[in-house]
Amino acid sequence: MIKVDGLSKRFGEVIALRDISLELLPGTVTAIHGPSGSGKTTLLRLIAGLEAPTTGAIYIGGALVSTPAALTAPHHRGVGFVFQEAALWPHMTVYQNVAFGLLGLPRHEVKARVAEMLAQLGIDDLTRRYPGELSGGQARRVSLARTLVTHPPRLLLDEPLTHIHHEMRSEILNLIEQLAVNRGTTVVYVTHELAEAARLGGRLIRMEEGAIVWADACPAGEIPASDTPNRESFRAD
Ligand SMILES: Nc1ncnc2c1ncn2[C@@H]1O[C@H](COP(=O)(O)OP(=O)(O)O)[C@@H](O)[C@H]1O
Ligand SMILES: [Mg+2]
Repeated sequence: MIKVDGLSKRFGEVIALRDISLELLPGTVTAIHGPSGSGKTTLLRLIAGLEAPTTGAIYIGGALVSTPAALTAPHHRGVGFVFQEAALWPHMTVYQNVAFGLLGLPRHEVKARVAEMLAQLGIDDLTRRYPGELSGGQARRVSLARTLVTHPPRLLLDEPLTHIHHEMRSEILNLIEQLAVNRGTTVVYVTHELAEAARLGGRLIRMEEGAIVWADACPAGEIPASDTPNRESFRAD
């Protein structure tokens, strides 16, 4: 379980998070949505351990991992994350990028897991390419593959469908849902689109100006026209 308790985060004058408390259970998907600047990425960065809170605490699997004074390192949290920027290693091929997190496992197992992951994400024909030879949507899928292949017990996804073609979107959403159901992964999924968040069928949380404004029950009439699939963000690979 991930437990966030009274979390706030300030960047100078900007209050990015205001008194956030949440409990995220294994095997569940929590979709957090809200407009740009509402604090979604900051919340994920704090859970990942990339940033310290200004007040409050984070517990992962019962252990205290973040306070304003002390942070457990990101790689000791059992958390996989896919951030908005793909950040692939430019000097490594797609195969090497995805296999990187499995270093130390037997070679045949690495091969099998990478191949399965690339096939599930529809990028198995790109294994020998370098990041510079990929479209935005392809790079995004490699970035997802690189994290998912390690089977993290907790998974933080920041707008993972950005640049991904409409037809591929529901396959990726299904894959993410299956991780929660089949592996008991704790999934936190961030998006600025309510429709995308609602499609996941898990818990639904709305953030505005650094605060949670509603959770679980979407108020009647809340789905505005601007949250219907938007051409711009559905742009193809
Ligand atoms: N490193 C930073 N330094 C200063 N301000 C920041 C920093 N990171 C985020 N912010 C500010 O915090 C607020 C929330 O940002 P963010 O978490 O990125 O929102 P979202 O992901 O919902 O778009 C914004 O006002 C943003 O400008
Ligand atoms: Mg963001």
